Amino acid sequence: MQEMENIFLIGFMGCGKSSIASKMSKMYGMQVIEMDHMIEEQQKMRISDIFKQYGEKYFRDLESDFLTRLPASSNQVVSCGGGVVLRDQNVAEMKKNGRIVLLTARPENILKRVRRNNNRPILNGKKNVQDIAELMEARRERYEAAADLIISTDDKSIQSICEEIFCKIRGAED
Ligand code: S3P
Repeated sequence: MQEMENIFLIGFMGCGKSSIASKMSKMYGMQVIEMDHMIEEQQKMRISDIFKQYGEKYFRDLESDFLTRLPASSNQVVSCGGGVVLRDQNVAEMKKNGRIVLLTARPENILKRVRRNNNRPILNGKKNVQDIAELMEARRERYEAAADLIISTDDKSIQSICEEIFCKIRGAED
């Protein structure tokens, strides 16, 4: 199969970036890069502990550093942390190396997916539809400005979302 250019999956926590990256890898032979997992491995700490011990800025620096050190190959699907768009330099770095795909979901669906997870410090005390909707709204402009492609994940199977991304990226290449 012809190599794909790199795809950066961005979007709010719980929008499905990791599941979709993993399925893209199986369907299209792409290499998955899980940003949060790689940062946890490098630091030998969970994200929640990095925030607790060193604070958010330190974590954001790790994210920026990670993006600048990504291997310059193609055919990679990068599942990004939800806050990666908060810095313009991160968006510029992603744009240099591939296409940015924004995944969206309704706050109700986000809540279902994040409810039982305790490794997302930004959502501490905010696991309800209203707070999630507010956080999403506060970031919406940044997400949309960064995106080359916007895909809604609501009421779709993971497989059909992957097919949609693949077709749209491929369509834009031709
Ligand atoms: C964050 C999202 C998380 C993780 C960190 C901060 C955010 O990643 O990077 O907890 O600010 O949106 P996921 O989007 O993979 O949950």
